[in-house]
Amino acid sequence: MELTEALLTRRSRQYLLEPAPSGEELIDLIRQASSAPDHGLLRPWRWVLLRGAQRDALGAALASTVPEDVRDRAAAKPLRAPLLASIIFAPRTATKVPEWEQLAAVSALVTCLELLLHDRGWGSIWRTGETVASPAVREFLQLRENERLLGWLYIGTPDPRNSPVPRKHCSITDRVSSV
Ligand SMILES: Cc1cc2nc3c(=O)[nH]c(=O)nc-3n(C[C@H](O)[C@H](O)[C@H](O)COP(=O)(O)O)c2cc1C
Repeated sequence: MELTEALLTRRSRQYLLEPAPSGEELIDLIRQASSAPDHGLLRPWRWVLLRGAQRDALGAALASTVPEDVRDRAAAKPLRAPLLASIIFAPRTATKVPEWEQLAAVSALVTCLELLLHDRGWGSIWRTGETVASPAVREFLQLRENERLLGWLYIGTPDPRNSPVPRKHCSITDRVSSV
């Protein structure tokens, strides 16, 4: 797929079906996506991949953080895609590169990964929420003290019955000026 076409046709996919890319394919794509700008090449990230019953276990952790009347809904959330790639921000400290720049590098990586997934015919959506900071979820993912969960990239096969409209162009003329 040509780059401009990929940029304009990638959309977040709410509905994702089996199958999902293999671990090997995803690691390969993460490797390619890590060519995104990353000041100091610090690679300030870590990924934890969840599939199958691991998604149920995450659902239980999510459910434990919310009131009883919304527990079932929270528990079902990770089942909306066959593969959840947990995006973990692991800032490096022995560097002059400020933390916000390291966070920007993770965002650039995830953006490139979503484009590469799209190019291969996979669908994805970056999902966050208040639960990312909860102790139960942190413990489930065995996060280290300095690490921060930035949400999950939900990945799978796009559901053809729920295709978002591709963009023809992106209008931002009011956001570009010169002094
Ligand atoms: C950092 C980040 C967090 C996001 N969190 C959520 C989320 O929690 N739930 C959701 O439905 N979409 C989430 N999204 C996806 C955005 O809603 C989506 O990118 C936006 O609506 C534009 O749609 P598009 O990706 O199809 O262009 C997130 C996107 C980013 C970059």
